[in-house]
Amino acid sequence: MAEKKLSGQTALVTGANSGIGEGVAISLGEAGANVVVNYVVNPDAANAVVDRIKAAGGNAVAIQADVSKEDQVISMFQQAVQQFGTIDILVNNAGLQRDAKFHEMTLAQWQLVIDINLTGQFLCAREAVREFLRRGMVADRSVALGKIICMSSVHELIPWGGHANYATSKGGIKMLMQSLAQEYGGQKIRVNSICPGAIKTPINKSAWDTPEAYNSLMTLIPYNRIGVPEDIGKLAVFLASDDSDYITGASIFIDGGMTVFEGFSTGG
Ligand SMILES: NC(=O)c1ccc[n+]([C@@H]2O[C@H](COP(=O)([O-])OP(=O)(O)OC[C@H]3O[C@@H](n4cnc5c(N)ncnc54)[C@H](O)[C@@H]3O)[C@@H](O)[C@H]2O)c1
Repeated sequence: MAEKKLSGQTALVTGANSGIGEGVAISLGEAGANVVVNYVVNPDAANAVVDRIKAAGGNAVAIQADVSKEDQVISMFQQAVQQFGTIDILVNNAGLQRDAKFHEMTLAQWQLVIDINLTGQFLCAREAVREFLRRGMVADRSVALGKIICMSSVHELIPWGGHANYATSKGGIKMLMQSLAQEYGGQKIRVNSICPGAIKTPINKSAWDTPEAYNSLMTLIPYNRIGVPEDIGKLAVFLASDDSDYITGASIFIDGGMTVFEGFSTGG
């Protein structure tokens, strides 16, 4: 059985009823954390994640909130603290795409992506920091006051035509994450980003669900396989645990080498 590195801690994972968030919630639960499984739609999928964590001997609860709505985020954190006493780990994962050519992009497409992917991370991180500061250090639980993990993307580095709203949201997450790491490092709050490449989830189904699409995707990935949510879950456990205590303000790319730009392997 895996060592329970997060025993006695509580993690809140946004958008945890699908894809990467689901994988991260399950990994954190397996590592011993109580898990708040946030969802906005599809409570059945959220309850299935809760059931899976409980079946493995963990503790979890599903809480509905739209991360882009201030009142709902505040209420979610209040419910979580009521349930588990505090929050030690926030995984800011919820996100979506609304793709369009830039000159055809509507303000609604732009605003929705910024509201959920970027403002949602601001609202959740602010409540998490408030809770870390309110609670104070607890001996023997973690050497950090709290940990925030932002789900960014290789697109905080790689520009992405046809997805300007999404790439902009991820570029913004990079500066949000680093500013928080700088502002709260002295109070022992660690803030880092996970930057996935292509992970097999519903958000990018069209990039992997036919052999043609999959083969085309592989031309971008030196390691020659698509990622899976468990890959991200293992990294999230590491970043949430004291094993990574000297890591803060970092963007960690987990992408099978996508950001070494394979197209240049033969001279460009
Ligand atoms: N899959 C990839 O290849 C990939 C690569 C890089 C980054 N990411 C990032 O990983 C994160 C998770 O994406 P995924 O691939 O698991 O996609 P997904 O569509 O499976 O999951 C996204 C989750 O966010 C939730 N969500 C959307 N709007 C929300 C809101 N307003 N409030 C609360 N939850 C909301 C969805 O309901 C869903 O649970 C996103 O931030 C995405 O940008 C994914």
